Amino acid sequence: MFNTMTVTKAAGALIGALLFLLLANWAASGLYHVGPAGHGGEGEEHAQAYSIPVEEGGDGGEAEEEEQIDFAALMESADPAQGEKDFGKCKACHKLDGSDGVGPHLNGVVGRPVASIDGFAYSDAMVAHADEAPEWTPEALQVFLTDPRGVVSGTKMAFAGLKSPEDRADLIAYLETQQ
Ligand code: HEC
Repeated sequence: MFNTMTVTKAAGALIGALLFLLLANWAASGLYHVGPAGHGGEGEEHAQAYSIPVEEGGDGGEAEEEEQIDFAALMESADPAQGEKDFGKCKACHKLDGSDGVGPHLNGVVGRPVASIDGFAYSDAMVAHADEAPEWTPEALQVFLTDPRGVVSGTKMAFAGLKSPEDRADLIAYLETQQ
């Protein structure tokens, strides 16, 4: 038989249990937020689930901004005289008098078909690149010069690349004057 007292006790016990669960839950989630060092695998997963999407969002945005340089505008304000100085980095391998060295001559290279100098032993990679991007337009040059071995994987041009878009524009503007 239930009387009021029994019901009250039962209700009290139930509420007590719920309260305990609630507190335990709260304490546990508090620990998870403290960091991965605290509580094993599950805690770490919680921490990552919160941090990774935020980081990816940030990085992705920045990368996109960097890629969206307006190269045509940079070319308009490019400085060939500065480009002539920058060409110092290419001189060890490239000449501008129509003769080839370690690399093919670069006079007339702007607008020239890729891998087109007779008698120069291009790598297979550069010959294959000619199928993808047949002409050295200013745009194709600026992409290639950013990261030669990344763009033409397997090229024998051992050059790390010009990271600054302004440097690339100056250099290409100088090469345009060398026919
Ligand atoms: C260490 C030597 C070396 C340096 C430094 C170097 N290059 Fe090259 N370059 C090469 C070689 C070798 C090739 C041929 C690549 C191949 O066949 O894979 C080449 C190819 C090229 C081509 C393709 C030419 C064509 O006829 O298709 C361009 C454009 C070029 N280089 C531009 C430059 C510029 C601009 C610089 C300076 C910022 C530079 N290179 C620095 C060695 C070099």
